[in-house]
Amino acid sequence: MKRDLLRLADLGDGGIVDILDRSAFYARVRGKADHPRPLAGHAIALLFDKPSTRTRLSLEVATVELGGHPIIVTPDSTQMSRGEPTEDTARVLGRMVSAVTYRTNTTARFEAMARACRAPVLNALTDDAHPMQVLADLHTTREARGRLDGLRICWVGDASNVARSWIEAAGLLKLDMTLATPPAFAPPLPEVDEARARGARITVTTDAREAAKDADVLLTDVWVSMGQEAERDYRISALSPYRITQELVSLASREVVVLHCLPAHRGEEIDADVLEGPRSFVWDAVESRLHTSKALLEWAALGPGFGPPPFAV
Ligand code: CP
Ligand code: NVA
Repeated sequence: MKRDLLRLADLGDGGIVDILDRSAFYARVRGKADHPRPLAGHAIALLFDKPSTRTRLSLEVATVELGGHPIIVTPDSTQMSRGEPTEDTARVLGRMVSAVTYRTNTTARFEAMARACRAPVLNALTDDAHPMQVLADLHTTREARGRLDGLRICWVGDASNVARSWIEAAGLLKLDMTLATPPAFAPPLPEVDEARARGARITVTTDAREAAKDADVLLTDVWVSMGQEAERDYRISALSPYRITQELVSLASREVVVLHCLPAHRGEEIDADVLEGPRSFVWDAVESRLHTSKALLEWAALGPGFGPPPFAV
């Protein structure tokens, strides 16, 4: 089985910790002569159906620093814009490159790509999950607090794709996580139940102040994710009591780690003084994206299906 990554569970038992250990290694060796180059001689396609700043840059730089060659692919610059099916694009990519990263809307579209592509396909964000972001958040938290076990994780705002990957991570790592959301923006119950069944302690509430009390990690995301622009007014009004303010931060642990995947909307989901304040690790988490991207690309490279395709004539 090739190493596709739709969600964090695809990393297998202990997989998240292995990636975090490897990310810490890559953080240490950055810029050094003995930095590994497991992608030497390999082309990696970075396919984006939606905009991206951090994911694109981190994957592109990670590929270069691992010795590989990144190729950015977007619909408007390819025949995808003229209706070429996802499956046909997938087959072309699979004949050319050693691995693919894919940002798209639906899980079904991601799965169609992964099924039809002979190379591993890694999720660079879908409407339902953002595993790459959560690996970077976990790495940042572990570096800041020295551990993940026993920390109180608090999510405030929309239970977005990032929140849902955090819930999954909470299950896989048996974390304690509280989410404060308006009822209409609560996480899907089956995903909460799955995390609980794996051993997480998950609390879902509508009370942001109660949730933030003694939190070790305070997280949020934009209120209007990509593709939700038509719901903007409704979302902003329903989510306005769920802003991360300095007052909310003051309820949390004195050592709280504040994270936001970015891009941020100051004065909406987070206040500017929090984003730029002493407990913000937001910019460190951006840099973490590079280290965790390297660990993830290396993970894909170590599995079957990575590498030049067998000549198929
Ligand atoms: N956090 C994140 O994925 O940012 P981009 O949308 O800029 O890639
Ligand atoms: N929830 C956001 C994350 C952006 C990185 C979105 O999907 O737009």
